[in-house]
Amino acid sequence: MANERTLAIIKPDGVEKHRIGRILARIEEEGFSVCAMRMTRLSTREAEGFYAVHREKPFFGSLVKFMTRGPVVLMVLEREGAIAKWREVMGATNPENADEGTLRREHASSLEENTVHGSDAPDTASFEIGWFFRESELLST
Ligand code: CMP
Repeated sequence: MANERTLAIIKPDGVEKHRIGRILARIEEEGFSVCAMRMTRLSTREAEGFYAVHREKPFFGSLVKFMTRGPVVLMVLEREGAIAKWREVMGATNPENADEGTLRREHASSLEENTVHGSDAPDTASFEIGWFFRESELLST
């Protein structure tokens, strides 16, 4: 399998609960390289654009409010099969359905406040990485 990049976010609930270190440790233990990382507070425009595919969903307004309520950690992760592997490490979107040992099972409190985000396919990964990072900010380690 080829090396691949995915966008990962530690969401406001993960930052508020002081889980950044534990999540980063897990990322490195699982063989990902961190190519880029920035802690920031998303503007409403950034969050709305990032989640534009969900614009028509009933939870869109609430999701944008949640994602902008405090700082997030944005990361680009790289390894073989990064997209699928990061989704496996995160677990199911709803922490109630997430397997034992996954980040969402361990840290998340609800379907919305699910602590971490990951791209779901190569085209979304490329859109999501480009939404937050310039090509020159992606460093191979
Ligand atoms: P994420 O993987 O970042 O992609 C979209 C986000 O919307 C998801 O994680 C959750 O935070 C949120 N989400 C998805 N479905 C629902 C839902 N039914 N109700 C509230 N929030 C949701």
